[in-house]
Amino acid sequence: MVDYRWSELGQLAVMKNEDQELCLCFHVTRRKVMQFIRVNRPKYASQISECYGAGTGCGWCRPFLRKLLEEANPEEAEIPDSETYASQRAAYREEKKTRSED
Ligand code: FES
Repeated sequence: MVDYRWSELGQLAVMKNEDQELCLCFHVTRRKVMQFIRVNRPKYASQISECYGAGTGCGWCRPFLRKLLEEANPEEAEIPDSETYASQRAAYREEKKTRSED
């Protein structure tokens, strides 16, 4: 879900949905991850796992967690909308499962 708000300049701005779950395995939201990065200033993306286990399940969210960490302004990091994100993860998990059966 996209949140539309008025910016300080009086322009309609699209705000990122901070309640979107980034780690679907552990239900860790974008807001929690950004807060973790702001407070703990991790050096490596793997350290974000200390934020409620984010990234320690299927692995789908790891590139997105890394993206938030590497962005100068994490609020601006582009993440697919919730529906697209979840369906891409489902495809990722299916492919991973198929590969492990080979
Ligand atoms: S979605 Fe984060 S580890 Fe699976």
